[in-house]
Amino acid sequence: MTWCDVLYHPGWAATAALLAVVVRLQRRGWWDPRACTVRLTGKTAIVTGANTGIGKFIALDFARRGARVILACRSESRGTAALKEIKEKTGNSDIHLRLVDLSSLDSVREFSKGILEDEKALHILVNNAGVSGLPRQITKDGFDMCFATNHLGPFLLTSLLLDLMKRSTPARIVNLSSVNHKKGQVDFSHFHGENLTYHMDKVYNHTKLHNIICTNELARRLQGTGVTANSVHPGVVMTEVMRHYPFIVRFLFSLIGFFFFKSPEEGAVSSIYCAVAEETEGITGKYFDSDCSIVLPAPLARDAALAVKDFEICERLTSKL
Ligand SMILES: NC(=O)c1ccc[n+]([C@@H]2O[C@H](COP(=O)([O-])OP(=O)(O)OC[C@H]3O[C@@H](n4cnc5c(N)ncnc54)[C@H](OP(=O)(O)O)[C@@H]3O)[C@@H](O)[C@H]2O)c1
Repeated sequence: MTWCDVLYHPGWAATAALLAVVVRLQRRGWWDPRACTVRLTGKTAIVTGANTGIGKFIALDFARRGARVILACRSESRGTAALKEIKEKTGNSDIHLRLVDLSSLDSVREFSKGILEDEKALHILVNNAGVSGLPRQITKDGFDMCFATNHLGPFLLTSLLLDLMKRSTPARIVNLSSVNHKKGQVDFSHFHGENLTYHMDKVYNHTKLHNIICTNELARRLQGTGVTANSVHPGVVMTEVMRHYPFIVRFLFSLIGFFFFKSPEEGAVSSIYCAVAEETEGITGKYFDSDCSIVLPAPLARDAALAVKDFEICERLTSKL
């Protein structure tokens, strides 16, 4: 038998197909949102980045459960399309679109002002919106664009809505992080776009580490208030998250992803679990994996002293001078 015979042996194709089937069967975790009977009638939820990907399916689930859902999106046209789709699919007319650009602190303040003026309560906040693979861009607030969108914007949004959530208890905050946080580092000059390498997911990984660090510190500060805060990894999910990556990377991601990665609907499960499940009631300061298990995040994300420092720096950076 030659090397060519080994390489072209049909057994490889059969093994790959079998592996793909096994991975597909395992993609559904033990918790099925459709089997969860929790209703959200009378509850209000905000989902950022709800016009596509994971966020749209989180919003869809909340709408099915009867919640008043606010889709916090940056694009009016994309947001309107999602609003229409969610209303049609769920028959829930209490779905609303509000525009916010999370990379801009002014926009986040404007959005929050509108919510505080118009909403009597807020029971669920899902900080889902995120970007990856952006080239170097500094926002008008002086922050790296990816840091502003993925961390500082959501950090300010949460802070501004916190009193409303404290008056709406029990209330839950769910922050979408990523298993990629394990490749992230903490260097506070990163916030301003300094000492960063703009290649693929390098900047993104740092932002996802800050997500968990600050969620843990927020949870500590919220002890006893009835508001919980947790972070989740949704899994590796076929969405538009790679849209800023080179074509070849996107092509390979889509090709492999078709067989092995989660659909956006499956990617929404761990966030929905944190936001609505009876099993997660009262749980706070934890990091949930894509199969809804509580797992330990990276050591840096468990450093309590670092968390206090990080949180205080983010408070300072997002406060109005
Ligand atoms: N997909 C994965 O494999 C994966 C893995 C781990 C973690 N995650 C996390 O899951 C979350 C959702 O990602 P996804 O995969 O669903 O990505 P996606 O399909 O690219 O959706 C991202 C959403 O965020 C919105 N967004 C981006 N920048 C924004 C800004 N400045 N202001 C307001 N909204 C903004 C987008 O709005 P537009 O459509 O208008 O751009 C879109 O609605 C992210 O936090 C991501 O880090 C994803």
